[in-house]
Amino acid sequence: MNHFQYRNRALCAESVAIADIAAAVGTPFYVYSNATIERHYRVLAEGLAAAGLDATICFACKANPNLAVIRTLARLGAGADVVSEGELRRALAAGVPPERIVFSGVGKSADELRFAIETGIHQINVESEPELRELSALAEAAGRTVEVAIRVNPDVDANTHAKITTGKKENKFGIEWDRVPEIYRLAQSLPGIAPVAVACHIGSQLTELGPFRAAFQRLRDLVGRLRADGIDIRRLDLGGGLGVPYDDEVPPSPAEYARVAGEILGDLGCRFLVEPGRLLVGNAGLLVSKVVRVKPGSTRTFVVVDAAMNDLMRPALYDAFHAILPVVEPPPGTPRAPADVVGPVCETGDTFARQRDLPPLAAGDLVAFATAGAYGAAMASTYNSRPLVPEVMVKEDRFAVIRPRPSHEEMIRQDRLPDWM
Ligand code: LLP
Repeated sequence: MNHFQYRNRALCAESVAIADIAAAVGTPFYVYSNATIERHYRVLAEGLAAAGLDATICFACKANPNLAVIRTLARLGAGADVVSEGELRRALAAGVPPERIVFSGVGKSADELRFAIETGIHQINVESEPELRELSALAEAAGRTVEVAIRVNPDVDANTHAKITTGKKENKFGIEWDRVPEIYRLAQSLPGIAPVAVACHIGSQLTELGPFRAAFQRLRDLVGRLRADGIDIRRLDLGGGLGVPYDDEVPPSPAEYARVAGEILGDLGCRFLVEPGRLLVGNAGLLVSKVVRVKPGSTRTFVVVDAAMNDLMRPALYDAFHAILPVVEPPPGTPRAPADVVGPVCETGDTFARQRDLPPLAAGDLVAFATAGAYGAAMASTYNSRPLVPEVMVKEDRFAVIRPRPSHEEMIRQDRLPDWM
């Protein structure tokens, strides 16, 4: 469910016409719907509560680190899952209290760990024995004890794209299953470390419950073993990963996901953390772009738009599907024809869609790439010296630019010529 719909044939975000935003900020741009973000948070929170789970939703900021997005969620009670000092600082700047922040990631530096310790965040998810030893030394030096989850790798196939699968033993993430009890014993013995939680994240854009069920079952067995070993596990961090519809896939609902977690883990007496990213913001964003020109070819028609792979990397990186919506809805019965939708960047990979059935499009027409709220702006670059795309948030009949488009002068000014030139 989202709040992008046609009104009198004009695509709108809540009550604002996309064409009006385009006229004000130029193209391309990202637009987010505040009501959609809030709705997704509430549906998940209600699902977790209905399943009897005492849970904090820690938004995975990597999906969309804009301060306005994080603050929208923080005001509803969300915490944050961060993976760098930059994200931790953003979460704090957006108003997430430290006691609702968890720090994940396989390569946290000593400086990042030190900053997290000083900030007094809720939990650090440790991914290796060397990281655990380093964190212990840093916490001891700071005179603190940090609450730690060991991120475990349950060797479960998430059945998603290979580049976003994280819970198989050949993936770089988490402690290998057979070593988990030994690592907890070590954690228990180290100064400055309170091993109170288990964390697990098996992948992203999961569209079935089976892999979650398998991972939760393994977690349940593990908690039993650890408690028998005298380790006081009080919290479970279930990670993120629940998928959203991009095309015709039908992922499980947040309520179904929560029910499975409740059935398998609900009687352990634990508090819960979840780290959803895509689920909260994926369908809350569009990337709006203008057709530069239509280039007829002998084998296909190319619709060249002013957004490119650097603005939305997912099609180039994962062959991801994003629906393409005309900003002016064609009259019923308008014939569609296949076209390739491409950007201006000098690579064949700069292709958003191949042989997609689209209504007639001409230079100057606006189109929107759907489901671009997660891992869209977040992964953008300035490749081909293209300015980062601005971001806009809509709330009811208002909109605000939540990140302006940098000027070419600002971009050029970031470079320095050495004094010998
Ligand atoms: N927690 C951890 C430890 C993670 O690594 C991730 C995502 C999440 C939570 C949030 O997962 P989500 O709920 O969004 O599935 N760029 C890729 C997705 C990469 C996901 C990385 N980790 C894409 O565009 O599909």
